[in-house]
Amino acid sequence: MKTQQWSASKYTRHAHFVSAMATEVLSLLDPQQGEEVLDLGCGEGELGTYIQGQGCTVVGIDASSSMVAAAKARGLTALQVDGHNMAFENQFDAVFSNAALHWLLQPESVIAGVRRALKTKGRFVAEMGGAGNIAALLSAMMDVFKANPDFGGFQNPWYFPSVEEYQSLLEKAGFHVESIELASRPTPLTSGLDKWLEIFADSIVSHLSDDQKRCFFNAVKIKVKPALYSEQEGWVADYVRLRFKAIKL
Ligand code: BEZ
Repeated sequence: MKTQQWSASKYTRHAHFVSAMATEVLSLLDPQQGEEVLDLGCGEGELGTYIQGQGCTVVGIDASSSMVAAAKARGLTALQVDGHNMAFENQFDAVFSNAALHWLLQPESVIAGVRRALKTKGRFVAEMGGAGNIAALLSAMMDVFKANPDFGGFQNPWYFPSVEEYQSLLEKAGFHVESIELASRPTPLTSGLDKWLEIFADSIVSHLSDDQKRCFFNAVKIKVKPALYSEQEGWVADYVRLRFKAIKL
Protein backbone atom coordinates (compact mmCIF):
# COMPACT_ATOMS: atom_id res chain seq x y z
CA MET A 1 0.00 0.00 0.00
CA LYS A 2 1.19 3.55 -0.79
CA THR A 3 1.93 5.60 2.31
CA GLN A 4 -0.40 8.47 3.06
CA GLN A 5 1.17 11.85 2.22
CA TRP A 6 0.32 14.69 4.58
CA SER A 7 0.42 18.42 3.96
CA ALA A 8 0.44 20.29 7.28
CA SER A 9 -0.86 23.51 5.70
CA LYS A 10 -3.84 21.76 4.03
CA TYR A 11 -4.53 19.91 7.27
CA THR A 12 -4.50 23.13 9.32
CA ARG A 13 -6.85 24.83 6.83
CA HIS A 14 -9.34 22.02 6.21
CA ALA A 15 -9.12 19.52 9.08
CA HIS A 16 -9.12 21.83 12.08
CA PHE A 17 -12.18 19.94 13.41
CA VAL A 18 -9.84 17.06 14.37
CA SER A 19 -8.19 18.95 17.24
CA ALA A 20 -11.26 21.11 17.93
CA MET A 21 -13.21 17.96 18.85
CA ALA A 22 -10.60 16.56 21.23
CA THR A 23 -11.99 17.98 24.50
CA GLU A 24 -13.15 14.63 25.86
CA VAL A 25 -9.89 12.79 25.28
CA LEU A 26 -7.94 15.75 26.70
CA SER A 27 -10.03 15.72 29.84
CA LEU A 28 -9.48 11.94 30.10
CA LEU A 29 -5.72 12.62 29.90
CA ASP A 30 -6.02 15.27 32.66
CA PRO A 31 -2.43 16.51 32.23
CA GLN A 32 -0.65 17.51 35.43
CA GLN A 33 2.07 20.13 35.95
CA GLY A 34 5.55 18.63 35.60
CA GLU A 35 4.53 15.46 33.74
CA GLU A 36 6.41 14.11 30.73
CA VAL A 37 3.97 13.33 27.93
CA LEU A 38 4.47 11.66 24.56
CA ASP A 39 2.02 12.81 21.86
CA LEU A 40 1.82 9.86 19.44
CA GLY A 41 0.83 11.12 15.99
CA CYS A 42 1.13 14.77 17.02
CA GLY A 43 0.19 16.14 13.59
CA GLU A 44 0.81 19.87 13.39
CA GLY A 45 1.16 20.02 17.16
CA GLU A 46 -1.97 21.84 18.24
CA LEU A 47 -2.90 19.44 21.04
CA GLY A 48 0.72 18.84 22.11
CA THR A 49 1.15 22.58 22.48
CA TYR A 50 -2.03 22.75 24.56
CA ILE A 51 -0.73 19.96 26.85
CA GLN A 52 2.60 21.78 27.12
CA GLY A 53 0.64 24.87 28.19
CA GLN A 54 -0.71 22.84 31.12
CA GLY A 55 2.83 22.64 32.51
CA CYS A 56 3.92 19.32 30.95
CA THR A 57 7.06 18.55 28.97
CA VAL A 58 5.80 17.16 25.67
CA VAL A 59 7.55 15.20 22.93
CA GLY A 60 5.51 14.85 19.74
CA ILE A 61 6.14 12.16 17.17
CA ASP A 62 4.68 11.83 13.71
CA ALA A 63 5.56 9.81 10.61
CA SER A 64 5.13 12.85 8.37
CA SER A 65 8.02 15.29 7.95
CA SER A 66 5.56 18.05 6.98
CA MET A 67 3.64 17.58 10.26
CA VAL A 68 6.85 17.43 12.33
CA ALA A 69 8.07 20.70 10.78
CA ALA A 70 4.72 22.37 11.54
CA ALA A 71 4.74 21.07 15.14
CA LYS A 72 8.29 22.39 15.65
CA ALA A 73 7.24 25.76 14.25
CA ARG A 74 4.62 25.91 17.03
CA GLY A 75 7.36 25.37 19.62
CA LEU A 76 6.87 21.66 20.26
CA THR A 77 9.76 19.20 20.51
CA ALA A 78 8.83 16.91 17.63
CA LEU A 79 10.52 13.94 15.98
CA GLN A 80 9.81 12.06 12.78
CA VAL A 81 9.11 8.54 14.05
CA ASP A 82 6.82 5.77 12.79
CA GLY A 83 4.52 4.79 15.68
CA HIS A 84 5.28 1.12 14.96
CA ASN A 85 8.97 1.65 15.79
CA MET A 86 9.22 3.77 18.91
CA ALA A 87 12.47 3.39 20.84
CA PHE A 88 11.61 5.26 24.06
CA GLU A 89 12.12 3.44 27.36
CA ASN A 90 10.54 4.20 30.75
CA GLN A 91 10.46 7.90 29.91
CA PHE A 92 6.89 9.16 30.02
CA ASP A 93 4.16 9.60 32.63
CA ALA A 94 1.57 9.49 29.86
CA VAL A 95 1.27 8.60 26.18
CA PHE A 96 -1.49 10.58 24.48
CA SER A 97 -2.90 10.06 21.00
CA ASN A 98 -5.76 11.66 19.08
CA ALA A 99 -7.01 10.51 15.66
CA ALA A 100 -3.75 8.75 14.81
CA LEU A 101 -3.89 5.11 15.97
CA HIS A 102 -6.31 4.07 13.19
CA TRP A 103 -3.56 4.84 10.64
CA LEU A 104 -1.23 2.27 12.26
CA LEU A 105 -2.11 -1.16 10.92
CA GLN A 106 0.01 -3.26 13.32
CA PRO A 107 -1.55 -2.39 16.70
CA GLU A 108 0.47 -4.98 18.65
CA SER A 109 3.76 -3.22 17.71
CA VAL A 110 2.29 0.17 18.56
CA ILE A 111 0.95 -0.93 21.96
CA ALA A 112 4.23 -2.69 22.84
CA GLY A 113 6.15 0.50 21.99
CA VAL A 114 3.76 2.62 24.08
CA ARG A 115 4.22 0.29 27.05
CA ARG A 116 8.02 0.45 26.75
CA ALA A 117 7.86 4.26 26.53
CA LEU A 118 5.83 4.59 29.76
CA LYS A 119 7.07 4.56 33.33
CA THR A 120 5.42 1.93 35.55
CA LYS A 121 1.84 3.05 36.36
CA GLY A 122 2.06 5.47 33.44
CA ARG A 123 -1.13 5.96 31.43
CA PHE A 124 -2.02 5.48 27.78
CA VAL A 125 -4.92 7.77 26.87
CA ALA A 126 -6.18 7.88 23.32
CA GLU A 127 -9.03 8.42 20.91
CA MET A 128 -9.17 6.82 17.48
CA GLY A 129 -11.67 5.65 14.89
CA GLY A 130 -13.47 2.57 16.26
CA ALA A 131 -15.65 -0.20 14.82
CA GLY A 132 -18.20 1.30 12.42
CA ASN A 133 -16.20 4.50 11.88
CA ILE A 134 -16.96 6.17 8.53
CA ALA A 135 -18.97 3.06 7.58
CA ALA A 136 -20.97 4.83 4.85
CA LEU A 137 -17.83 6.39 3.35
CA LEU A 138 -15.84 3.18 3.50
CA SER A 139 -18.54 1.07 1.91
CA ALA A 140 -19.04 3.69 -0.87
CA MET A 141 -15.27 3.69 -1.56
CA MET A 142 -15.19 -0.10 -1.77
CA ASP A 143 -18.25 -0.16 -4.06
CA VAL A 144 -16.67 2.38 -6.41
CA PHE A 145 -13.48 0.32 -6.63
CA LYS A 146 -15.55 -2.81 -7.34
CA ALA A 147 -17.44 -1.00 -10.11
CA ASN A 148 -14.15 0.17 -11.69
CA PRO A 149 -11.81 -2.82 -12.08
CA ASP A 150 -9.24 -0.53 -13.78
CA PHE A 151 -8.68 1.09 -10.33
CA GLY A 152 -7.19 -2.19 -9.04
CA GLY A 153 -8.02 -3.73 -5.66
CA PHE A 154 -9.23 -1.55 -2.76
CA GLN A 155 -6.67 -1.32 0.05
CA ASN A 156 -8.15 -0.14 3.32
CA PRO A 157 -5.56 2.11 5.03
CA TRP A 158 -7.44 2.18 8.36
CA TYR A 159 -7.82 0.04 11.45
CA PHE A 160 -11.08 0.57 13.36
CA PRO A 161 -11.22 -1.93 16.25
CA SER A 162 -14.11 -2.83 18.55
CA VAL A 163 -13.95 -2.28 22.34
CA GLU A 164 -13.43 -6.02 22.92
CA GLU A 165 -10.62 -6.30 20.36
CA TYR A 166 -8.63 -3.29 21.57
CA GLN A 167 -9.18 -4.05 25.27
CA SER A 168 -7.85 -7.56 24.70
CA LEU A 169 -4.75 -6.20 22.86
CA LEU A 170 -4.07 -3.76 25.72
CA GLU A 171 -4.48 -6.43 28.41
CA LYS A 172 -2.31 -8.95 26.57
CA ALA A 173 0.41 -6.30 26.32
CA GLY A 174 0.41 -5.63 30.08
CA PHE A 175 -2.08 -2.80 30.63
CA HIS A 176 -4.98 -2.48 33.03
CA VAL A 177 -7.85 -0.90 31.11
CA GLU A 178 -9.44 1.70 33.36
CA SER A 179 -12.03 2.84 30.80
CA ILE A 180 -12.83 2.11 27.17
CA GLU A 181 -15.87 3.13 25.16
CA LEU A 182 -17.17 3.43 21.64
CA ALA A 183 -19.18 6.57 20.87
CA SER A 184 -20.86 7.76 17.72
CA ARG A 185 -19.75 11.32 16.95
CA PRO A 186 -21.19 12.77 13.75
CA THR A 187 -18.55 15.24 12.58
CA PRO A 188 -19.32 18.31 10.44
CA LEU A 189 -16.89 18.56 7.52
CA THR A 190 -16.55 22.32 7.46
CA SER A 191 -14.51 22.32 4.22
CA GLY A 192 -16.82 19.80 2.53
CA LEU A 193 -16.45 16.19 1.48
CA ASP A 194 -14.15 16.93 -1.48
CA LYS A 195 -11.47 18.33 0.79
CA TRP A 196 -11.92 15.47 3.27
CA LEU A 197 -11.41 12.92 0.49
CA GLU A 198 -8.47 14.86 -0.95
CA ILE A 199 -6.70 14.96 2.43
CA PHE A 200 -7.61 11.62 3.98
CA ALA A 201 -8.08 9.27 1.00
CA ASP A 202 -4.74 10.23 -0.51
CA SER A 203 -3.17 6.78 -0.13
CA ILE A 204 -6.27 5.12 -1.64
CA VAL A 205 -6.16 7.13 -4.87
CA SER A 206 -2.45 7.94 -5.22
CA HIS A 207 -1.96 5.33 -7.97
CA LEU A 208 -4.92 6.62 -10.03
CA SER A 209 -4.79 9.09 -12.93
CA ASP A 210 -6.36 12.52 -12.47
CA ASP A 211 -9.41 11.38 -14.49
CA GLN A 212 -9.79 8.26 -12.37
CA LYS A 213 -9.45 10.32 -9.19
CA ARG A 214 -12.19 12.70 -10.37
CA CYS A 215 -14.42 9.74 -11.21
CA PHE A 216 -13.72 8.16 -7.79
CA PHE A 217 -14.45 11.35 -5.81
CA ASN A 218 -17.66 12.08 -7.76
CA ALA A 219 -18.98 8.53 -7.47
CA VAL A 220 -18.26 8.37 -3.71
CA LYS A 221 -19.98 11.72 -3.20
CA ILE A 222 -23.10 10.62 -5.07
CA LYS A 223 -23.31 7.38 -3.09
CA VAL A 224 -22.96 8.94 0.38
CA LYS A 225 -24.94 12.13 -0.22
CA PRO A 226 -28.32 10.73 0.99
CA ALA A 227 -26.73 9.58 4.28
CA LEU A 228 -24.21 12.36 4.96
CA TYR A 229 -25.50 15.59 3.41
CA SER A 230 -28.35 17.91 4.33
CA GLU A 231 -29.19 21.50 3.35
CA GLN A 232 -29.20 22.57 7.01
CA GLU A 233 -25.98 20.93 8.18
CA GLY A 234 -23.92 20.41 5.04
CA TRP A 235 -21.62 17.37 5.03
CA VAL A 236 -21.46 15.45 8.31
CA ALA A 237 -19.22 12.38 8.45
CA ASP A 238 -20.28 9.24 10.32
CA TYR A 239 -17.42 9.17 12.83
CA VAL A 240 -17.33 6.61 15.65
CA ARG A 241 -14.69 7.17 18.34
CA LEU A 242 -12.94 4.55 20.45
CA ARG A 243 -11.68 6.29 23.58
CA PHE A 244 -9.71 4.65 26.38
CA LYS A 245 -7.42 5.06 29.36
CA ALA A 246 -5.08 2.18 30.22
CA ILE A 247 -2.43 1.91 32.94
CA LYS A 248 0.94 0.19 32.50
CA LEU A 249 1.17 -2.66 35.02
C1 BEZ B 1 -10.95 9.54 11.77
O1 BEZ B 1 -10.45 10.43 12.47
O2 BEZ B 1 -11.77 8.76 12.22
C2 BEZ B 1 -10.55 9.38 10.35
C3 BEZ B 1 -9.99 10.43 9.68
C4 BEZ B 1 -9.62 10.27 8.39
C5 BEZ B 1 -9.79 9.07 7.75
C6 BEZ B 1 -10.35 8.02 8.41
C7 BEZ B 1 -10.75 8.17 9.72
